[in-house]
Amino acid sequence: MLDGLSHGDRPRFALARPPFYGDNKRLAIAACPRVFQMPATVPPPAAPVDKSGERVRRMFGQIAGRYDLLNHLLSLNIDKAWRRRTVKLVPPAVGMRVLDVCTGTGDLALAYHAAGDGQVEVVGTDFCHEMLEVARQKGATGGRESIPWIEADAQHLPFDDDAFDIVTVAFGLRNVADTDAGLREMTRVCRPGGKVAVLEFTTPRKQPLKGMYGWYFRRVLPRIGQLLARNHECAYDYLPASVGQFPQYEQLAQRMQAAGLSDVVFHPFTLGVATLYVGAKPTTDC
Ligand SMILES: C[S@@+](CC[C@H](N)C(=O)[O-])C[C@H]1O[C@@H](n2cnc3c(N)ncnc32)[C@H](O)[C@@H]1O
Repeated sequence: MLDGLSHGDRPRFALARPPFYGDNKRLAIAACPRVFQMPATVPPPAAPVDKSGERVRRMFGQIAGRYDLLNHLLSLNIDKAWRRRTVKLVPPAVGMRVLDVCTGTGDLALAYHAAGDGQVEVVGTDFCHEMLEVARQKGATGGRESIPWIEADAQHLPFDDDAFDIVTVAFGLRNVADTDAGLREMTRVCRPGGKVAVLEFTTPRKQPLKGMYGWYFRRVLPRIGQLLARNHECAYDYLPASVGQFPQYEQLAQRMQAAGLSDVVFHPFTLGVATLYVGAKPTTDC
């Protein structure tokens, strides 16, 4: 059954591994109407982050050589565990084709290739040449030169419909200028019955982690990042701003449904610092 919004259903999502319900129960979250009260003073809306392709490509081009080091340092190496869990929760099987879009320096694509033990075909795409060059070098030195690294915009993927069994994106969708176009493309190239997985930063919902995280993410990380990355485009100012403006949890799950995916579930990692969203491409249009 297609859970899509276009069918007039109320959106239904499952929060996988809900913190209050233990590990093996799933909490269905009905999107129920709420009445919001306006605060006494309304802060001015933050200026939208500039996600033009040219700016984003240039920004990642400037930090490509230091991206991995910074990534692992600023996340205290937890990002590696998040990618490993992604592969575990959306596992490849023998003969499958896996596409990792916005692959950057290729860590998720490489993790899928390693998990497939040579029996899974993996393709990585990104629109930043410098990031893909790092991915290519890592693939070559790690004995994974069979992975093609293809320069492509996630909003216009150069693949046929239904070409892949699993389509993933890690910390990339947030940077794509048109989130919905990116999700629709990922869905289009996924085969019916296949999975689309989105790993993205989220904001923890519970105190005290929420407060601590906000302070680290907005005050500490941009300073360290800027100091180490030394790029002109302020990639580590852009990071908290882009996370703050990106849909999270139920909102992103709803956008995935609107892009044509069903049975969308999400798995908060590390108390909600990052979240993996997984949807299935329906096998029929009923
Ligand atoms: C934060 S990095 C993530 C890299 C990698 N997936 C990871 O897990 O570390 C985001 C990547 O998305 C790429 N990107 C952003 N917008 C894109 C688009 N429209 N098409 C293709 N790649 C895009 C950037 O070039 C960059 O390499």
